[in-house]
Amino acid sequence: MTAITDKVNYHAEGNVGVITINNPPVNALSVGVRAGIQGGIEAANKDDSVSSVVIVCDGRTFIAGADITEFGKPPQEPSLHQVIGSIEMSNKPVVAAIHGTALGGGLETALGCHYRVASPKAQVGLPEVKLGILPGAGGTQRLPRVVGIPMALEMITSGNPIKADKALEVGLVDEIADGDLKSTAIAFAEKVVAEGRPLIKISDRDEKLQAAKDNPGIFDDFRKSIARKARNFEAPENCIKAVQASTELPFPEGLKRERELFIELMEGEQSISQRYFFFAERQAAKIPDVPKDTPLIDINKVGIIGAGTMGGGIAMNFLQAGIPVTIVETTQEALDKGVALIEKNYAATVSKGRMSREAMDKCMSLLSPTTELEDVKDVDIVIEAIFENMDVKKELFAKLDGICKDGAILATNTSTLDVEEIGDVTERPEYVIGLHFFSPANVMKLLEEVRTTKTSKSVMATCMALAKRIGKVPAMVGVCEGFVGNRILHRRSEQATQLIMEGALPQDVDRVLFDFGMPMGPFAMSDLAGNDVGWRIRQGKGETSPIADAICELGRFGQKTGSGYYLYKEGSRTPTPDPVVEEIILKASADAGIERREISDQEILERCIYPMINEGAKILEEGIATRASDIDVIWVYGYGWPVYRGGPMRYAEAVGLETVYNSLVAYQEKFGDYFKPAALLERLVKEGKSFS
Ligand code: CAA
Repeated sequence: MTAITDKVNYHAEGNVGVITINNPPVNALSVGVRAGIQGGIEAANKDDSVSSVVIVCDGRTFIAGADITEFGKPPQEPSLHQVIGSIEMSNKPVVAAIHGTALGGGLETALGCHYRVASPKAQVGLPEVKLGILPGAGGTQRLPRVVGIPMALEMITSGNPIKADKALEVGLVDEIADGDLKSTAIAFAEKVVAEGRPLIKISDRDEKLQAAKDNPGIFDDFRKSIARKARNFEAPENCIKAVQASTELPFPEGLKRERELFIELMEGEQSISQRYFFFAERQAAKIPDVPKDTPLIDINKVGIIGAGTMGGGIAMNFLQAGIPVTIVETTQEALDKGVALIEKNYAATVSKGRMSREAMDKCMSLLSPTTELEDVKDVDIVIEAIFENMDVKKELFAKLDGICKDGAILATNTSTLDVEEIGDVTERPEYVIGLHFFSPANVMKLLEEVRTTKTSKSVMATCMALAKRIGKVPAMVGVCEGFVGNRILHRRSEQATQLIMEGALPQDVDRVLFDFGMPMGPFAMSDLAGNDVGWRIRQGKGETSPIADAICELGRFGQKTGSGYYLYKEGSRTPTPDPVVEEIILKASADAGIERREISDQEILERCIYPMINEGAKILEEGIATRASDIDVIWVYGYGWPVYRGGPMRYAEAVGLETVYNSLVAYQEKFGDYFKPAALLERLVKEGKSFS
């Protein structure tokens, strides 16, 4: 065994040279890996005892891509281009042995090899678009030459990987290993030599490009097909252009075009934000005072109290992860309705071809519906998802405390109530935690976890791990009104309402925020969620909101009643501005003695967004969130903040903290202390520092 670098070894096994990469955790293509592969190829070509080469990785995966931590730093030789070039130019056939995930530069490296063997569970893909860039080491030129233009466009613009069997079917891998991957790849390499198979250079292949050369309209059709999903994103367009170049230019020129398009993206704000977000998401999984080796509680069975939309949605996450769920309702009728909704949701997924009938049956078989609270006595965690009423929740938690086995976690899905107060009615406050799922709970990725001062480390670590098991992205926060997500949302809602009192209309505010990149504006969102929810909460607290109340008094609860801030045609979700609402708004302004004025889009944007950033700063000051990036994770995954703007806190840094601060001060002078900058924001600006 020869160490080529500290991350790559070379040795001969029989007449096959084996290059082994070992760069935990994901064998990213750091400089030592690149140099090692290149050195390994040179060594194998000089080694007379070998006639072929296998590239294989130690650890949990094949190369998962370029080393993202090297981005933005001065480039170090050899470049990945040079490495892949040297593999492709090798005089001896090179076989990639793929396990885990061959992603980004990892798949590009494999595409530089003459052949590819994969383990059955391997996945391959080019996820660069998710980082706001494109595959910059030949991926946009080589992949289409193997799988054809339509599939290459789909893979490169979605960033989603494909599984080994699919990769075999489309010719992206040449063989699936039944047994040990390395031995299979070595045997494959020997076979290539024995049979005198050619050194297949993908860069020389053109036959899969012909169909698109004959029909260049395919690119515009594809653009149109992804327009909604790709709205405002820059990377998908450059991906399409790069793939198109593969049909218009010879391979070396295509590579140059790919490079130009890559650099354009790499230097842009969107990619900086998306790369920031990649690490933000992974950071959020770590809680500074909860060590990595904290013992976890085994979770094999889950109880859910409440089979409404939320309870049912939460249940679906666990069922899909193969975890049995006991779901409890107070009446048989409500229970049947809840179970029927779960079944209907699964059936819809099956009919769209996104789930097999067997998988659906398996999920339904793991569900135990009951009207007996006692039936959760043996579960490992209970998640309460009943309506938001402190007294009712306290009563329920006291009962659950008596019913559930020792060591079971008691979680609440409350979005507003004090989790500490709920936990204090039990004899096990250290086992009580908030698990705030976002609606629709089976779809939204965020899980806002709420620790009290008593929640144990083990319970926190278990719930963070559980979130990952069910495919959620968790962020741990502390107790405060609305926690992190809704507390910040309230600031935006207040300003949206204030702006329509002063002169804007709902469609103005919504348009500005939609154009900014949000999936919809605050008024369309309120219509979707149901305006009656806030109305009832206000009534309970004895509060009023002239416009919102007037709208609810007319029974305009939103989409579900066909009207709210907007009108909705039967069966349509498209909001249409309504003169009735405008009248309500004008009257409310007049009643409040406000002389309406023209409000610019810039003011709408700043007054909606800057108070959110300011609230985020207060949340950090109070220690409710650990890091600014956790707030960003919550807003991207819970509220659809555009990932290419990183999240509200990252956006503040892109705009400049000083700019945000100065605007807040100007609004404070005009409108009062509502806009007073948070002490943390002021300090950071004075010290020239950033949130991160
Ligand atoms: N570079 C640097 N670090 C990386 C990395 C990369 N490409 N991929 C993962 N990591 C780090 C993570 O930050 C994390 O670090 P911490 O433990 O310190 O938080 C660690 O590796 C483990 O990652 P995950 O927690 O994500 O592990 P997982 O098992 O859940 O997922 C994975 C593994 C599927 C490979 C996932 O990490 C992933 O999707 N990685 C990114 C893949 C990617 O985007 N590749 C393309 C890179 S760009 C490129 O290659 C450009 C080009 O064309 C040249």
